[in-house]
Amino acid sequence: MTALPLIRPATVADAAGIAAVHVESWRSTYAGLLPDRYLVGLSAKVHERRWQALLTGAGGAKRRTYVMLDGEPNPAGGSSQIVGFASCGPQRTGLTGYGGEFYAIYLLDQVQGKGAGRRLLATMAQDLLGQGTQAALVWVLRDNPSRFFYERLGGALLAEQPISFANTRLAEVAYGWTDLLPLSRLAAGPHVGS
Ligand SMILES: CC(C)(COP(=O)(O)OP(=O)(O)OC[C@H]1O[C@@H](n2cnc3c(N)ncnc32)[C@H](O)[C@@H]1OP(=O)(O)O)[C@@H](O)C(=O)NCCC(=O)NCCS
Repeated sequence: MTALPLIRPATVADAAGIAAVHVESWRSTYAGLLPDRYLVGLSAKVHERRWQALLTGAGGAKRRTYVMLDGEPNPAGGSSQIVGFASCGPQRTGLTGYGGEFYAIYLLDQVQGKGAGRRLLATMAQDLLGQGTQAALVWVLRDNPSRFFYERLGGALLAEQPISFANTRLAEVAYGWTDLLPLSRLAAGPHVGS
């Protein structure tokens, strides 16, 4: 029987694992949305260094990051493989009424569609509530079908704005939750260390 993946707060030691998921998931998610050259050029080493900085709180950032680990026992006795991650913290874009923001949520293709995203989002909702934040939003590319994941989990469409990224003009939309409590209750299954 395959065990349910575990979610725990990330540490600096997770930087390489997060970077690997970051690069693989970006290539898969943004193919056709971002230029091939940009996606091919994504470097796990570069992102590992960025994640090391983020996870040490460089610059005073209040980002909090969670990793999802596959539930399979590791024969080598080391840490399990990171198959997804998510980050949240204070809202950065100035939309009033939403103190928190879900900055990122990325899963490897093979673990998508099995409830892992719901559990990670619920974990972040619990985190924000624990910080005294009742409401949060997320920005997502308008043409990313994952936006419907947020709709399915109760996010209300708040705003749309143009964005320029990797020399590409895009549009992003914001989804918001005015009460994180129902979202926070969607987390079921093993959850450690939060
Ligand atoms: C978006 C993502 C985190 C969702 O995680 P997931 O594990 O695949 O989603 P879940 O299985 O937890 O789905 C929860 C619910 O949302 C629905 N859902 C998930 N993705 C959906 C999609 N693209 N379109 C419509 N509904 C979707 C599921 O059907 C499920 O509904 P149910 O309650 O009726 O069963 C994951 O698919 C992912 O990593 N995508 C690529 C990266 C990405 O785009 N991240 C967001 C960047 S802002």
